[in-house]
Amino acid sequence: MENAVTFNSISKYFASTHVQANQDVSFSIKKGEIHAICGENGAGKSTLMNILFGIEKPDTGTIEVNGEICEFHAPFDAIAKGIGMVHQHFKVVNSFSVTKNILLGIEKGPWGFTNAKKEREFVQQLSEKYSLPIDPDQIVGTLPVGLLQRVEILKMLAREVSILILDEPTAVLTPQEVKPFLQTLRTLAKNGQTILFISHKLQEVLDVADRVTVMKKGSVVGTKSTEDTTIKELATMMVGREVVFTVDKEPAVPKATVLEVKELSVINPLGVKVLKNVTFQVKAGEIYGLAGVSGNGQEALVSALCGLEKASEGSILLEGEDITRSDVLERKNLGLAHVPEDRINVGLNLQTTVKENVLMGFQRNKRFKKRLFLDQEICESHARNIIEQYAVAGASVNGEVGKLSGGNMQKIVLGRELTSEPKLLIVNQPTRGLDVGSIEFVHKMLIQQRDAGVAIIVVSVELEEILSLSDRVGVLCAGILQGELTGDQIDEKNIGLLMVGGTLDETNE
Ligand SMILES: Nc1ncnc2c1ncn2[C@@H]1O[C@H](COP(=O)(O)OP(=O)(O)OP(=O)(O)O)[C@@H](O)[C@H]1O
Ligand SMILES: [Mg+2]
Repeated sequence: MENAVTFNSISKYFASTHVQANQDVSFSIKKGEIHAICGENGAGKSTLMNILFGIEKPDTGTIEVNGEICEFHAPFDAIAKGIGMVHQHFKVVNSFSVTKNILLGIEKGPWGFTNAKKEREFVQQLSEKYSLPIDPDQIVGTLPVGLLQRVEILKMLAREVSILILDEPTAVLTPQEVKPFLQTLRTLAKNGQTILFISHKLQEVLDVADRVTVMKKGSVVGTKSTEDTTIKELATMMVGREVVFTVDKEPAVPKATVLEVKELSVINPLGVKVLKNVTFQVKAGEIYGLAGVSGNGQEALVSALCGLEKASEGSILLEGEDITRSDVLERKNLGLAHVPEDRINVGLNLQTTVKENVLMGFQRNKRFKKRLFLDQEICESHARNIIEQYAVAGASVNGEVGKLSGGNMQKIVLGRELTSEPKLLIVNQPTRGLDVGSIEFVHKMLIQQRDAGVAIIVVSVELEEILSLSDRVGVLCAGILQGELTGDQIDEKNIGLLMVGGTLDETNE
């Protein structure tokens, strides 16, 4: 089979971070195949894709597209050669319709659109041709993430690309959305598209890809046919040692109640009650898993607990103290730590240094002070410890956080919050975007915190993660705490039942 893309000895060094992001990368992608790229956080996957899409220039090496050596100076050049890329962070215009977003910039393209009707028809046909159903008239700002992604893919297909780069497309999808999405990829490949698919989820890679290339520290470790490899082998290739996928933990020894939530309700800005009379407790030394299909009140609950959203009714007590009306900082000072779901917009300040980011919110903490002032030496060694302990690739104490790879940004937030000696730790999607080795490490850290007596709430759409970490599980459905599970009750079947609004008694009957 002919090759769609060939990388010939691509190297890329970032002087600002002193990182060799790509080192002598050579491999080929066949026409019409789904080719996955895996590797640890910071391995250089996104950089390589940015080079292929004309966003970054390689220091040395060449790229062949359909057998022809190409030099790209901007994405425009790459698109002209039939290459499209969907980034992890979407670039849509919220106030425009689906049609307008898809045709943005190519309105007077080779199809010679003359009016809105023709544009609409074109988008409709495109959507049908590729089996990617959308409503051409809908305003994009109102669409859920899964559909936004579809718009982004159609935007590329409208430009008649034949090679699609998808950088961690499934990281933003719920488990329910992943299956149909992978099906879509297969349909696209069957229709002649060549797909480069980046993912940390190795099962997905085996399910959907024809071949997979593993990268490590900027270099290619090897390319395998997915038929001839296993999750275990891929993980070992990525991390350089065997990865343990099960979480090793002793039964919890819960102590005093740390968090007490009583009859808590939240009304969102649109006037809808998104959390309804939720009551539960979390004790020191236990992990309380919060499960549910996303959009069923998890976000409201976490926001209310952290002080980001007001409770309309009910109360929140932290170690007996009523914090229902306290602001974010007051709660933080009382020992509440929070790893937010949206690390880019909520968790970090990308333009500042690692040191500043790991101090964010804790500047008043006595640990970092000598008399009245922040002690630079203590602050720097704190930052250095987090970088070392969490193996934050490409990071330095005074380096910019925005230059880190996606997964490594997540590690900075986790490091900051987990080392803050919290009483209550709320982690929302703690391992989203992390590589398998880092997931293993973060899970270990959470268990370690639990055993040191921290009360922990884990919110995750990954059922596996809830199952392997939780000592108790609460399931939210339509804003109601549908049920709680302990011990042997905690399994996929019971959680699934509560997630769709069922009750436990039905299973026992
Ligand atoms: N614009 C940049 N300037 C400086 N350094 C950068 C830049 N972009 C990436 N890097 C560095 O290059 C390395 C590779 O980053 P890249 O984003 O390619 O990793 P990745 O494999 O996509 O990781 P992840 O799985 O976390 O997304 C990282 O150490 C990162 O800090
Ligand atoms: Mg990346």
